[in-house]
Amino acid sequence: MNTDRLHLDTLAVRAGIERSQFNEHSEALYLTSSFVFASAAQAAARFSGAEPGNVYSRFSNPTVTAFQTRLAALECAESCIATSSGMSAILATVMGLMKGGEHIVASHSIFGATVQLFSGILPKFGISTTFVAGTDVPGWGRAITPATRILFLETPSNPLTEVADIAALAGVAKRAGALLVVDNCFCSPALQRPLEFGADLVVHSATKYLDGQGRVIGGAVAGRSELVMDGIFQFLRTAGPTLSPFNAWILLKGLETLDIRMRAQSERALRLAQWLETRPEVARVHYPGLATHPQHALAMRQQSSGGAIVSFEVKGGREAAWRVVDSTQVISITANLGDTKTTITHPASTTHGRISPEARAAAGIGEGLLRLAVGLEHPDDLIADLARGLNAA
Ligand SMILES: Cc1ncc(COP(=O)(O)O)c(C=O)c1O
Repeated sequence: MNTDRLHLDTLAVRAGIERSQFNEHSEALYLTSSFVFASAAQAAARFSGAEPGNVYSRFSNPTVTAFQTRLAALECAESCIATSSGMSAILATVMGLMKGGEHIVASHSIFGATVQLFSGILPKFGISTTFVAGTDVPGWGRAITPATRILFLETPSNPLTEVADIAALAGVAKRAGALLVVDNCFCSPALQRPLEFGADLVVHSATKYLDGQGRVIGGAVAGRSELVMDGIFQFLRTAGPTLSPFNAWILLKGLETLDIRMRAQSERALRLAQWLETRPEVARVHYPGLATHPQHALAMRQQSSGGAIVSFEVKGGREAAWRVVDSTQVISITANLGDTKTTITHPASTTHGRISPEARAAAGIGEGLLRLAVGLEHPDDLIADLARGLNAA
């Protein structure tokens, strides 16, 4: 199928389909660890790479390939490889493209486990990281050293929804001879395509909006083939954190509804953010779709909507915030996001609980902060659920 002129919602349903001899309509699930060869000569050719084709599912699998092809089409990427989780997508990117002695510049405002990976684990292998404010473009430039290989950011960030300027930072990376890697988890390609703004690579926790229904753990990296296939894939096929075919099949099905889900969830998030802004118990609402958001104009240039994550600061610190959490009856108390079911999290004691209080303060994550990942329930029911806790506060 020539996908060049198709729209994103069409690609999300159609890209990557390669039918078997049975001509199935829905994508087939190939639950097999290895593949059979017609002859010794073919086995040798497949192993050497002289003949393309599947060998072993740690290297490639048709269901996983279908997911990779579809996500590459959505991100406008030359290549995509799937991984067993979002964290292994980030790890494989670093391991595939960097060596000891090299350096990362990363935004302060990234997922807690990514901070832990960069500051707690990578130094054991001689890779260091300098953290900067994601929104301070000159600050990124100042942090670069001759050893800098990767600039890493999330936009919007987790949990404060800070929006970083992808095009400006792509320029900073290019001038330094480094790569800009964007974690596109919060927006998904339905709302934002970082490669179009000059990023070199996009990483995903497919666990979030790509699945969209809270079922499986998965990840992906997309970008130019020279980076994805020659660098990252070589680490992945050897070290093994590849995506299982079953999870790839679930994710393929998730992508089919990505665009429609992201639009509906963003609409609900905006409605909730606007309502939270009217509440006297709330000190501040963080949502890129609000005119009061410090990077609202930039967000509206980079993203087609504000997304489905809303954070807000309850007056009264941890006690008041926990009261709101504990008063919910519809919203789920869970750290995951990107589900059709709305979730609520207290970042300071959960997702960002393992980073030091100093790092948390630098990232602006206070004790009264709550993060909502808005799903597909009726917004009036979500508002009533939050009003109960806020009224009690
Ligand atoms: C922005 C972001 N990046 C990466 C990850 C890690 O993904 P996974 O849990 O699939 O390893 C998460 C998980 O919550 C996340 O929120």
